[in-house]
Amino acid sequence: MKAVITRKMPDSIVALLAECCDVYMWPDEHEPISRHMLMEQMADADALFTNVTDRIDREVLDAAPRLKVISTMAVGFNNIDVAEATRRGIPVGHTPEVLTEAVADLTFALLLATARRVVEAMAFIREDKWKAWGPMLLTGQTVHGATLGIIGMGRIGEGVARRARGLGMNILYCNRSRKEAAERALEAAYCHLDELLKRSDYVVMLAPSTKETTRMIGAREFSLMKPNAIFINTARGTNVDEAAMIEALKAGQLRGAGLDVFETEPIRPDHPLCALDNVVLLPHIGSATVETRLKMAEIAALNIIAGLKNEPLPYIVNPEVNV
Ligand code: GLV
Repeated sequence: MKAVITRKMPDSIVALLAECCDVYMWPDEHEPISRHMLMEQMADADALFTNVTDRIDREVLDAAPRLKVISTMAVGFNNIDVAEATRRGIPVGHTPEVLTEAVADLTFALLLATARRVVEAMAFIREDKWKAWGPMLLTGQTVHGATLGIIGMGRIGEGVARRARGLGMNILYCNRSRKEAAERALEAAYCHLDELLKRSDYVVMLAPSTKETTRMIGAREFSLMKPNAIFINTARGTNVDEAAMIEALKAGQLRGAGLDVFETEPIRPDHPLCALDNVVLLPHIGSATVETRLKMAEIAALNIIAGLKNEPLPYIVNPEVNV
């Protein structure tokens, strides 16, 4: 049997897979596998170890007549046509849980950095603009005691809420369903999206990417936010109408934005967001701690091994095919 790994992985992960199958690995750590090479390698692949940069659509599945399992090294799986994989009886694995705390940490890092203008302040020193302490120099916005609105109260949303409690924040959330246990444990109040937008000083996007969440925050939603609101997105860029967000940031309708994800990735320095001072931009590193990424890679490999053995995947996206 053969597994295709679409990005260079650490030796320990390759060794784990090599115990049960042959492995083809794209040798580059930074550049995604070319579409051409992916299609070619899928011809005799039994397993696919993929990641957020690969589009696994019907065409890829058509090229892979032997495919028994798909495993993505991510919690999000919007890059995979899961409905089509399910129709073909192919289980799809992902890596939730192990990344929860790392992503919640990064979400808070972005929130604090944006509120307190941390990146702008460092540039101020680098550009030799610091002449003396100033009473209102680089003043940002208070986080302690402010109101945080969490859109998407899944595991990561709860992790963010736990951190917010330590900062004495008032917590609002909206979600497809109410999370009453989380409400009690975290003193979070459930409310409608519009109300959350109107009342929050910080709005954090943590909803998964689905048809329903595509561009769920656009011009109307930005216009509902407080003028001092700061918007944080560590979920998926497609959940937001980026052009509308840029307009809101330029117009001062939105105080700032901290973004780890974008409509189209990667963004380049000539992207309109890079021209703004009131943003902190990161290259999709939400779960990027060494420990977390190694655990994610290991779980992705374990999902593959289970799939090749016809066993239930430890973390499956489409359990209806996991017999
Ligand atoms: C990264 O974006 C992930 O979904 O894990």
